[in-house]
Amino acid sequence: MYKKNAIMVAAILAVVAIFVVVLVTTVFVDDSEERYGKVPTPQSEADIAEQSAVAPTSVKDETTQPLEQNEVGGLNETTTEHMEDAKESVPEVVVDEVAEVGKEFESLENAPATPAQAEEVLPEKDDSAAAEGGEIHIVKAVGLKYDPLVVTIQPGDTVAWENMPTHDTQSLEGLIPESAEAWHSALGENYQRTFTVEGIYVYKCTPHIGAGMGGAIIVGEPKNLEAIKAKDVGGAEGRLVRKAIAAAEEM
Ligand code: CU
Repeated sequence: MYKKNAIMVAAILAVVAIFVVVLVTTVFVDDSEERYGKVPTPQSEADIAEQSAVAPTSVKDETTQPLEQNEVGGLNETTTEHMEDAKESVPEVVVDEVAEVGKEFESLENAPATPAQAEEVLPEKDDSAAAEGGEIHIVKAVGLKYDPLVVTIQPGDTVAWENMPTHDTQSLEGLIPESAEAWHSALGENYQRTFTVEGIYVYKCTPHIGAGMGGAIIVGEPKNLEAIKAKDVGGAEGRLVRKAIAAAEEM
């Protein structure tokens, strides 16, 4: 009898225990899910990518923004100070000079309206040829030819190449007087050069020598005529040399 009762009590206790365990487990799990949200266990690649893309911006917002603000604040303060300093340190001489330059142009009847006009009005620094009394000889690029092809000048004269948007001038090695300096002007720019050493100078246009573009300058006496005749120059350069020799022999 006792034994039967004991078994029944044990069975009831077991059922109650199981019930309690099930109840507690259910409540706990429900509660944790409610409180902490569903924990996403296996993250997909898209999730990871999304999180890592979001992470840096939030970091930036928190860290760099206040820094930048601080920096700008600091800069503003110091630049303002520097500007005040600069204002004070502008020498009065400069102010006077600026005022005087203004007066100079006021007094001129035709004050320069364009940079080109200003160049004409103001004395040029590199106008050595004019200062020495040398003449300026214009050589114009016309199509793929220099016009005139051969120029005859005096020592101290200047040759000015014009209309050079796609051209340059380069002296040919061995085809200028021995003691003269070689030159190569900038492509696409007008160029001028004063010649002091007597003799024949043959030059080319680098991009168009294939089309025969080049020329010759004879300064004073063609002293290097024999030296140039002795050179064996072929092609387009050879044609330029023959024209230079012909012009020199006619002198
Ligand atoms: Cu050219």
